[in-house]
Amino acid sequence: MQATARAQPNIALIKYWGKRDRTLNLPAVGSISITLADLYTEMNVKFDSKLKDDVLTVNGEIDQQMLPRISRCLSAVAGEGRDPARVDSHCNFPVAAGLASSASAFAALVVAASAAAGQHRSTAELASLAGLESGSAARSLYGGFAELENNGDSVAVETLLDSSDWPLRIVIAVTSAGPKPVSSGEAMEISRKTSPFYGRWVDDQTHDLDVARAAIRERDFGKLAAIAEHNCLKMHSVMWASRPPIVYWNAATLECLQTVRELRTQGVGVFFTIDAGPQVKAICLAHDESRVCDALQSTSGVGRVIVSELGAGAKLTGCV
Ligand code: DP6
Repeated sequence: MQATARAQPNIALIKYWGKRDRTLNLPAVGSISITLADLYTEMNVKFDSKLKDDVLTVNGEIDQQMLPRISRCLSAVAGEGRDPARVDSHCNFPVAAGLASSASAFAALVVAASAAAGQHRSTAELASLAGLESGSAARSLYGGFAELENNGDSVAVETLLDSSDWPLRIVIAVTSAGPKPVSSGEAMEISRKTSPFYGRWVDDQTHDLDVARAAIRERDFGKLAAIAEHNCLKMHSVMWASRPPIVYWNAATLECLQTVRELRTQGVGVFFTIDAGPQVKAICLAHDESRVCDALQSTSGVGRVIVSELGAGAKLTGCV
C-alpha cells in the first residue's frame, strides 16, 4: 500500500526550547503555535519488500542527510520489522531555513506512513510519534492555535481555537534562504548545558503559556502580541548567552523588527516572532495584511515575503 499526506508548518508564539528527555525527545517546556495554510510538505510513502533500504527524495533529489531521521520515524510508526520504504517529499517553501520544514515533514510522514502500513491511529497517537523526531512536528497534526502540554512522559496537544475563529495572517520575511548553521535540536542542548538564563527560561514558561492561552481565548491581539514578542526575545537571549553563542539573526532580521515596531506606532495590528533561523514572521490582523507585506518587502535585506492564512492540521490526501 502507498499513501500520501500533506501537512503545514506551524509557528510557535510561545516557544519550545530545551529537552527534558533526549531519548524520547520530550520538550522541557510547553508551547503554543499557529498552523499555517499556504505552506506545505507533501509526503508519499510506499513500503516495498523489494527495496534493499529506505530511499528518500526531497523535491525530486535523493536526500541522504535527512534519511536516518526519516527511517527512525518510519520504524516508530510501522515497527522495526517493517519493509523498506520509498519516501518522496515535496515542499513548496525553503527547507531547513527556520521555516519549520521539519515540523511539516514529520507530521506528513507519520500520517502517510501509518496509512501505508494499514493502521488507523488517532491524531493524538500520530502527534506523539511525530514528536519523537521533531518536538514541534506534534503541533502540525493540529490546526489553528495549538498548545503542546508539558505533562509527564508523553506529548499531548490540544486545539485552543480553530483557524476560522480568529483569522489572523502570517507574513514571513525571508532574509536568507540558506540552511541554518546549527540544528535547533543541537542548539537546544548547548543552551541547556551552558546558558546562564536557561533555568529561568524554563521556570517562566508556565506564566507565558497562561497569558497567551487567555489572550487567544479572548482574541486579545495586543495581549498576545506583547507576550509572544517577549517569549521570542527571551528564547533568543538564552541562545545568545550560550557557549558557544547561538545567533541565528542577520542584519535584515533586526531591520524587520524595526519595521514591525514602526508599523505598530502607525496603528497597525502586528507583532513579530523568530525561530531557529534568520526569518522574521509577522503576525497581523487580516485587514492589515497588505500594509505589513509592503513594509517588510521594502525592508533592507529582505529577499522575499510569503503570506499565509491559518490552516488545518495534517491530512491524508491519498491511499491506494
Ligand atoms: C525555535 O522541533 O525543530 O522552532 O525536537 O530537536 O526536532 P527538535 O526541535 P524542533 O525545534 C523547534 C524550535 C523552535 C521553537 C518552536 O517551534 O516551538
